[in-house]
Amino acid sequence: MTTVQSPAPEGRETWTSNRGFILAAIGSAVGLGNIWRFPGVAYEGGGGAFLIPYLIALVTAGIPILFLDYAVGHRFRAAAPLAFRRLWRKAEALGWFQTAILFVISTYYAVIIAWSLSYFYFSFGTKWGDDAQTFFLSDYLNVGDPGISTELVGGVAWPLIAVWVLIIVVLALGVAKGVEKLNVIGLPLLVIGFSALVIKALTLPGASDGLDALFTPNWGALTDLNVWIAAYSQIFFSMSIAFGIMISYASFQRRKANMTSSGLVVGFANSSFEILAGIGVFSTLGFMAHQQSIAEGTQVAVGDLEGITGPTLSFITFPQVISEMPGSTLFGALFFGSLSIAGFTSLISLVLGVSVAFQEKFGLSKTVAAVSVGVVSAFVSFALFATTTGLIALDTVDQFANNVGIVVSAIAMCVIVVWLSRTVETLRAHLNAVSTFKVGKWWIPVIGLYAPIFLGIMLIQKVYDLITEGYEGYPTWYVGVFGWGTVAFLVVFAGILTAIKWGGRDDPSFTPWPPVDAGNAPVRMTKEMTK
Ligand code: ALA
Repeated sequence: MTTVQSPAPEGRETWTSNRGFILAAIGSAVGLGNIWRFPGVAYEGGGGAFLIPYLIALVTAGIPILFLDYAVGHRFRAAAPLAFRRLWRKAEALGWFQTAILFVISTYYAVIIAWSLSYFYFSFGTKWGDDAQTFFLSDYLNVGDPGISTELVGGVAWPLIAVWVLIIVVLALGVAKGVEKLNVIGLPLLVIGFSALVIKALTLPGASDGLDALFTPNWGALTDLNVWIAAYSQIFFSMSIAFGIMISYASFQRRKANMTSSGLVVGFANSSFEILAGIGVFSTLGFMAHQQSIAEGTQVAVGDLEGITGPTLSFITFPQVISEMPGSTLFGALFFGSLSIAGFTSLISLVLGVSVAFQEKFGLSKTVAAVSVGVVSAFVSFALFATTTGLIALDTVDQFANNVGIVVSAIAMCVIVVWLSRTVETLRAHLNAVSTFKVGKWWIPVIGLYAPIFLGIMLIQKVYDLITEGYEGYPTWYVGVFGWGTVAFLVVFAGILTAIKWGGRDDPSFTPWPPVDAGNAPVRMTKEMTK
């Protein structure tokens, strides 16, 4: 083993400790995807049987691609565009494609947090009343037909201002003083609040029927390709992988930073939280079925309930159940408080990825980048998603950004690293030089063959369905503008940003560290490198 000298200090901000990085990465992973998306996706995908594609997706794509993100970010020490450019000059466009995904997702993600904040407030006195559906769709959002409306919804706009102001302030404070602190405060609060909610949910009458509904396997679902697609999409979104987040987070890690072991902790924590959310949500739905059975005088099963997925679950079904339970204010506050905190600690990672990318390309200061990216994102967020047609726009953009955008990005990343730039061995050596958990050779066929082939099949099926069946019965022109328009935006954004010159800001003296390019055996780190 060779001992290598420490590199010159590079002046890049770092997390204050490995613990700080792990907390921030868990904070990013655990988000709206865990609480409002996973329970419904799992239920629709065969309940207990869904855990099989889910775990397979975790092991065959989640963890391997998380390692890939970590390796690219940690070795090339930049947000996605510059990190990919340093990996292979022609790969910069992929970095901008990922940055575009981050931008798009952040603009609607912020709006869901704004809804959550409103509902946190509404919890005190269960202000949604007896008819949570009419309250959400008409009284609160004033939803119109699919179309383009410029009419802002006041109840969304105010909390949305608060969301963006907080995000801009935290970003301007920087990685250690802002992002890390937000997670150090937010994550324990989230774990305590959400655990209290799950304990309360488990004590409700009917809770065990809810858990039976979630965990009783429907093996037939496993033969449905769409269930597998849902499992892989869930893993990507939920682990925050393949769209630039973990690249920028890893780029702020110190040189010596046990990357793979941290990755395993993050992956395990995220999936554990997801299962916990499933337990909490389905115990509550069990209670709902129990109440309906009493009211209707006949047995109502959890499977007969309507609206157990997506926004409907969190903002219609849940409020409805909450009204019926003893201690409803506390339960509502815990649920919407948890949803808001989980959302904030993820949104910050989405916007940081965009802000750092622009900071690096245009040589901006941290504050200027945070304010300009924050203001532009906030503007788009208001214009598209805080209006009376925001709910429908959000649902459509989310569908295309996730199921098309992120999957294309994951495939491109694997193909570029393994086949085009042929840097996979360097990245593996990098991970192994700095980490205690060594990545074996298995990693290469997994990200070079299995992942792109499987994801490719998934993508073709999804695109075929979207073309032939449209989406949710929305008018074709609407799906064209908001759905395919989103995909077109990702491509055009990537093209334009790549075409703009770096000026002198692409530091030619940057040297990846440690020096494993020649395929050397792992290097021993000197003490200075741990700084
Ligand atoms: N990983 C984040 C979530 O699950 C984006 O919501």
